[in-house]
Amino acid sequence: MSVVTHLGHLVGSAFADIGLDPSFGAVVPSQRPELAQFQCNGALAAAKSAGRPPHDIATDVIGRLSAEPTIGKVDIAGPGFINLTVTDDTLAAALEAMHSDDRLGIPVVDDPLTVVVDYAGPNVAKAMHVGHLRATIIGDSLARIMDVLGHRVIRDPHFGDWGFQMGLLIAELEDRHPDWPYFEDGAAGSYPEESPVTLDDLQEIYPHAAEKARQDESFATRAREATVQLQAGHPGHTALWRHMKGVSEQSQRADFSELGVEFDVWYGESDVHDRIGPMVDRLLESGVAEESEGALIVRVASEDDNREVPPLILTASSGGYLYSTTDLATIESRVRDLDADLVLYVVDNRQTDHFVQVFRAARLGGIAPESLRLEHIGFGTMNGGDGKPFRTRAGGVVRLSDLIDMVRTAAKERLDDAELAADYPEHEREAISAMVGLAALKFGDLINNRSSDYILDLDRFTSFEGKTGPYLQYAAVRMGSILRRAAAEGLVPGAIEPPGPDAERGLMLELAMLPEVVLRAAELRAPNHIADHAFTLAGRFNRFYDVCHILSETDETRRASWLGLVETCAASLRLLLSMLGIEVPERM
Ligand code: ARG
Repeated sequence: MSVVTHLGHLVGSAFADIGLDPSFGAVVPSQRPELAQFQCNGALAAAKSAGRPPHDIATDVIGRLSAEPTIGKVDIAGPGFINLTVTDDTLAAALEAMHSDDRLGIPVVDDPLTVVVDYAGPNVAKAMHVGHLRATIIGDSLARIMDVLGHRVIRDPHFGDWGFQMGLLIAELEDRHPDWPYFEDGAAGSYPEESPVTLDDLQEIYPHAAEKARQDESFATRAREATVQLQAGHPGHTALWRHMKGVSEQSQRADFSELGVEFDVWYGESDVHDRIGPMVDRLLESGVAEESEGALIVRVASEDDNREVPPLILTASSGGYLYSTTDLATIESRVRDLDADLVLYVVDNRQTDHFVQVFRAARLGGIAPESLRLEHIGFGTMNGGDGKPFRTRAGGVVRLSDLIDMVRTAAKERLDDAELAADYPEHEREAISAMVGLAALKFGDLINNRSSDYILDLDRFTSFEGKTGPYLQYAAVRMGSILRRAAAEGLVPGAIEPPGPDAERGLMLELAMLPEVVLRAAELRAPNHIADHAFTLAGRFNRFYDVCHILSETDETRRASWLGLVETCAASLRLLLSMLGIEVPERM
């Protein structure tokens, strides 16, 4: 049990003893570390319902705690904060429990959930660009955090391969290449094996077609018709669609692999197509869906809305299915096929309204049972130095693979400047630069509260100093090399002893917070708690290492304990970084 949980139980039962709810006993790290290690604010919270001054309550509570052997000091600060400090023996025992536990004291949740993490959201005909980066980084991190806690995690990119954009592409290709075999009506012809279009072609065609549809109503109509035909299984359109999907997916998978991001399933919007017809029928029968101007809609506005929430469009008047329709049917499939308990939609804040509509329609239509939790995990934008969404100098969209190259190059320069990995073989230097570059990018993102915007500052992000990914990677490498050096001298880590110097105590206290940090990051869907803790931990470690000269220490028990502490710290930091999707090189 972690120190915080242990104290929470003690203080909670003291509250219970005086007839108050034990949840008032919750303990957190002290906001004034010079006064105490931990604090409980429950007396203030309880005062109103108990009808007693907080100071009185606190006095009663600490009266019941003072004889407790694990507590070194307990007193009241201000109007009724309960300040707590544990004995050094208690701290050592807690650290040794972490040290000897593969899970570093992190609990496995009592009731593991099946969590679908829907993130990245690549689309057909579009190479991934910086706009997909945050969704990918944040989604990947949340999936990793949930996984560490023992949830059953299913990562799904929800590939955008079914809506109107497909009709736009097909109609435009037909305009350009009327002689291609894909456009004939009727029975399946024979279609080429190879895709007639590359992703680069599609990237040029798509924006052109989208603009054309805005200008030219007859083209827009043809695009809508093509969408309907594709969705109805037109053989030629289907064959062409497969090609377009294939070339897009191939490039996206390559980008994901560069980012070190994996998925458990690769489902697209199109995969739920067969569910849509029956779902729409049911929604109509139950009166949840209705006809309006030739379209089928679900009214999702509610009386207490303080802004207008437009109806969800289930079927366009052309008969085509839309983004919302596939999202709704995807919920059904996640419930029935995947047995999901929780779905996290890691999608930028601009789609908030879309998810409000989809989630409400899913409840109204009985598609999402009460027990299913649906959450939109929104986030802000990654901006350039001008405070506007990050673009190329020429104002274009930056391809993800180009951004990865940029950050890799920047990382390599930094390694050179810092004279790191200087005499390693070239392939190892390359691999290290790649890891450092990704660490810079991921940490630079995840250290922020996800709903805030931030500025992509490659200079700052790739620095080995400050709150950066490379700094933490370096710290983790250094811990590893201390342990290797010790092992080479025949020194073995041992059980963790009570701390001597304050720097050692400080490190132990920070380490002891790991379980709560992970739980909190999961609960708030907030990887920045992991990133922050990793940074504080590295700082505490440096102070400890300055003060405690491990390798030259002559007291054997002490030295072994210090090595045990380094081991625990190294494992914790690696785990934290892995939850951010950051790899640590063997050496650098
Ligand atoms: N493909 C979508 C887009 O580019 C993102 C998909 C997000 N996930 C979802 N279930 N809607 O905007």
